[in-house]
Amino acid sequence: MTAQDMPAAGRTGAGSPLLRTAGARARRLTRPSLAVAAGITLYLAFPPVGLWPLAPVAVAAFTLLVRGVPLARSAGLGMLFGFAFMLSMLRFVIFVGVDGWVVLSVAEAALLALVAPATTLVTRVRGWPLWVAAVWVGQEALRGRAPFGGFPWGKLAFSQGDTPLTPLAALGGSPLVTAAVAGCGALLAAAVVAMGPLGTSIVAAGRVQGRRRATIAAWPLVLRGLRPPGTRSDARSDDRRAAPFGFLGAAVAVALVGLAVPLPSAAQAGTAQVAAIQGNVPRAGGLDALGRMFQVTANHVAATERLGADVTAGRTPHPDLVLWPENASDVDPFADPRAAAMLDRAARAVGAPILIGAVLDGPGKGKVRNAGLGWNADGWTGQIYVKQHPVPFAEYLPGRAVLEKLVKRFATEMPNDFVHGNGVGTVTIGGVTIGDVICFEVAYDGLVRDAVDAGARLLVVQTNNASFGRKGESEQQLAMTRLRAVEHGRAAVQVSTSGQSAIIGPDGRIVAESGLYETAVLTASLPLRTSRTLADRVGVGPEMLLVILGLLAVAFGLRAGQPSRGRRGPDADTATDSADDTADDTAGDTERRRVDDERVLVCVPTYNERESLHNTVMRLRAANPDVDLLIIDDASPDGTGKIADGIAAADPRVHVLHRDAKNGLGAAYVAGFDWGLRHGYDILVEMDADGSHQPEELPRLLAALRDADLVIGSRWIAGGEVRNWPRSRLLLSRGANAYVRAALGMPLADATAGFRAYRARVLQSRDLGQVASQGYCFQVDLTWQAWRSGFRILEVPITFVEREHGRSKMSRAIVAEALWRVTWWALTTRHGRLAAPGERHRRAEDAAKGTAYVPTARGDAAGHSDRSTTGVSR
Ligand code: GDD
Ligand code: MN
Repeated sequence: MTAQDMPAAGRTGAGSPLLRTAGARARRLTRPSLAVAAGITLYLAFPPVGLWPLAPVAVAAFTLLVRGVPLARSAGLGMLFGFAFMLSMLRFVIFVGVDGWVVLSVAEAALLALVAPATTLVTRVRGWPLWVAAVWVGQEALRGRAPFGGFPWGKLAFSQGDTPLTPLAALGGSPLVTAAVAGCGALLAAAVVAMGPLGTSIVAAGRVQGRRRATIAAWPLVLRGLRPPGTRSDARSDDRRAAPFGFLGAAVAVALVGLAVPLPSAAQAGTAQVAAIQGNVPRAGGLDALGRMFQVTANHVAATERLGADVTAGRTPHPDLVLWPENASDVDPFADPRAAAMLDRAARAVGAPILIGAVLDGPGKGKVRNAGLGWNADGWTGQIYVKQHPVPFAEYLPGRAVLEKLVKRFATEMPNDFVHGNGVGTVTIGGVTIGDVICFEVAYDGLVRDAVDAGARLLVVQTNNASFGRKGESEQQLAMTRLRAVEHGRAAVQVSTSGQSAIIGPDGRIVAESGLYETAVLTASLPLRTSRTLADRVGVGPEMLLVILGLLAVAFGLRAGQPSRGRRGPDADTATDSADDTADDTAGDTERRRVDDERVLVCVPTYNERESLHNTVMRLRAANPDVDLLIIDDASPDGTGKIADGIAAADPRVHVLHRDAKNGLGAAYVAGFDWGLRHGYDILVEMDADGSHQPEELPRLLAALRDADLVIGSRWIAGGEVRNWPRSRLLLSRGANAYVRAALGMPLADATAGFRAYRARVLQSRDLGQVASQGYCFQVDLTWQAWRSGFRILEVPITFVEREHGRSKMSRAIVAEALWRVTWWALTTRHGRLAAPGERHRRAEDAAKGTAYVPTARGDAAGHSDRSTTGVSR
């Protein structure tokens, strides 16, 4: 019993110990019952009930249930949630037997249940509504692929066949829709949490206290003040009151943003007059719903002949192509001439080619194929698609040798195995290239996308729902087909033996539809489209991105769960409140130094900067006559080193360090700093040679150093600016900084900036030879270490102007290095500041009185051109 249980039981007036125990037991069952209720709530969001707003509501409830509980309990709650959901969702599987239904539900629930501990973990991390969305996508990505090729039934996206969220499919496919549903739900949960006392009482029980806070910081502003469970909120009370509405607003925004997505549906390659034939089956549901051999085929022939009669009489337009459902010919027309003759007759009657769904024998004994065939009055047109993803345990038996012995029913009810087709689902019928999708295949993102990529202008979902009865399967499938229409911007036809069949516009609108277990012929003129949606272009990208985000958030959440060792919260002090640091600094005013008296060295690394260098140096010298300059050239092939030597020869304040080869920005600065420290400089500055950094702004950086140990010239704080950068580079810089903040919890706007001033002690505190970062990641590396060590960091706005001459050395390798290193640090380093702000430099100061770094040489006016690979002067 937890401490929280007791007063609660007392409040309900349960005076006797016996009643109190009963009350506690009831409380222990509260969450499990609520988990089951949440699972059923999620089911109600899907067709056939279709109360789609319940999908985010269920996610919200589930998130609140598992947030802050121990991981094992969370997994248990996830299992209950998943089982309740799957059992209701998969009711239609009962026809194979209760055992099959339960086994499938348990297996799927077990995979779905992974989302529970994942949610528990990511809700420890700042900005968690986004990570909750990501772990849902992750769970579905897994469940859609494994085991046996996966079973994506019940993806959150499939509850959104025709809702304000559906259009998001055109941008990022079903994973984006799922992310929006889950994100919306998580924001609702966040609103409840932010409601404070009320929210807390709703979600308090079972909360793990004293968890360390992780810091995926600075995501949407609205997430400010949202703390993981068990952490103190230091948000001002006004903020806290506003927060629930902020989260509610964000949830509504996520739910409605899809309405702004345009869904073009105009014809781009003409139109096609199509007819979908639902011939109906003899029995509504069950294993033998298809009745005797030829019976279903005969039904479809009859319905097609009636259509032919209507066309002849002019009551219906002449179709360009006719669509039959999956299994419409349950006898192989290539093997049995009677079946072929029936198909010929139907095609002749309607005067158009038909897409037949047929079960074909072979290849080999005990093997069959589930195929779509082009057929006209003369027989097979030569077009065929074989279902690529037959359903395990329904169409083929994995591990047949073993399973048949264990479960006798398999041998009699499933004597043959359907083989996997290996061609993409495009079939050309009546001059129209269609994307043929057979039954459950519609649930797999990749199969449908492949067909569109291969040129499908119209989607056809051939299906046979005869066995499933009136248990919602067909309606669930229709929701998927509608989502696919929108996702790919293609008209789509779902054609079923027994219903539901439907004709759907490229915007997901239903043009015509049939009921269950009736004969129906649907006709329409459909636009043929060729353009690819954004979702087609980005393919699996959004899904993979979200999976990676989800995994990272889980990893951060795991780290956040480790008990802290008396560490100060990283948000206790930030760069922006460094004024406070100085205020409570015992050294007080003596810390405020006169920077003017100190020796400043500006380090400028160069590689192929011949057009820029001279001008940059002249501007620097003019604006800062008292500072020295060190050019660190990596043997630039364009002769930059020679130019530098020329300038140095004429100006005693300019020095040059020549290095053998281009070894990256990091190595160049390390060499430069080493030189500067050896020559006794008090302040070392980083600056680019290409004119991006304004030497005229250096005095402001140096002035700020009075109250700091490191001053960063920031592009991304108020007053900062970037000129002439392409959008891609702006995004990269913003993204990199957001990631650094999120992963490292370091509250800086521009940790990657390359115009900055260090007090020597910051660089002395670290063995520079050990700095491994090579590229621009070096900037983050030094900032992160300085911040962790408790040095005071200030950001000062600067104007960054993209170079006019030469080329940036930014490359994919440099980005990749930064990405993996930052991720590595985030996962392997204890977060937060190891020393309090200001503490570090006091210690350094004390050390300086004793055994601190002693410069080996003073800067001299004579030898200002050193040649070495290590950066150590002669
Ligand atoms: N010696 C040496 N060796 N110098 C180099 C090397 C190298 O391997 N790589 C780049 N440099 C020099 C360039 O010659 C230039 O003077 C300076 O470093 C900046 O390089 P750019 O290639 O112009 O960088 P950028 O403009 O793309 O990137 C700027 O913004 C980044 C953050 O967005 C720089 O300020 C980076 O330091 C900063 O991280
Ligand atoms: Mn540059």
